[in-house]
Amino acid sequence: MSAQIIDGKAIAATIRGEIAAEVEEMKTKYNRVPGLAAVLVGERKDSQTYVRMKKRACAEVGITSFGYELPADVSQDELLKLVQELNANSNVHGILVQLPLPDHIDDETILGAISIEKDVDGFHPLNIGRLSMKRRDPLFVPCTPRGCIELLDRTGIEIEGKRAVVLGRSNIVGLPVAMLLLHRNATLTICHSRTKNLPDVVREADILIAAVGRAEMVKGDWIKPGAAVIDVGVNAVDDPTRKKGYRLVGDVAFAEAKEVAGYITPVPGGVGPMTIAMLLRNTLDSAKRELGMA
Ligand code: GUN
Repeated sequence: MSAQIIDGKAIAATIRGEIAAEVEEMKTKYNRVPGLAAVLVGERKDSQTYVRMKKRACAEVGITSFGYELPADVSQDELLKLVQELNANSNVHGILVQLPLPDHIDDETILGAISIEKDVDGFHPLNIGRLSMKRRDPLFVPCTPRGCIELLDRTGIEIEGKRAVVLGRSNIVGLPVAMLLLHRNATLTICHSRTKNLPDVVREADILIAAVGRAEMVKGDWIKPGAAVIDVGVNAVDDPTRKKGYRLVGDVAFAEAKEVAGYITPVPGGVGPMTIAMLLRNTLDSAKRELGMA
């Protein structure tokens, strides 16, 4: 039987509706709206697209966005100065520095300079540290991992006691999503490039989070029948039949996997829209905290 498709686009739209209503309430009660500063360094096309989408989503829910575009050769000190100005700006409740940064900039230094009260990406070492410990609530949880959990919750998929396998160990997705699954009492395995017998390990997963960035690496026969598959991968593969010459695929071979899985997210239209919805949520939560609403 074919899997239930988890419609991230629809779930994200519902969440954006919830956020828009809360922003409206904040405006009425406090005459304030949340503000997000989006900092883009350099001219990577993918980063430009992500930042444009984030700003557009802000406008749609009534969050003010402030865009900052810096040249690829900007000095680390100049970028730090901008972060410090944004830390001090009371109209800014969230600061997002789009990653990756150019090689001459140390991202740990930049992310560590963002006020933890405005760290809506959840990448500040203190927020990540708290996320990695028991009973130490971070102020913000990174957006893509939070989006993965939200997709499971809103689809009614139970996490507690389940075997969860996370494929990938990046700072942005793999590690934080693993921590979230652990906090929700899943039994967790993290797989990576050195994992032996990878298909066998993946086959144990009741919940699989694929976040390795390799096009259609997870085959249908790696999936446990009935499993929930959350595909975080966004990979461009050549496709001359498309106008752009490429199409986007996930880390999971979708057509095969959907015949085995119980639930599966598509690419695009699965996790992607949730990342942005969670960024809006984190920005709203930050403004609520500042106003004493949370
Ligand atoms: N690059 C890839 N994903 C992200 C993200 O969630 N936030 C930021 N700032 N950069 C990214």
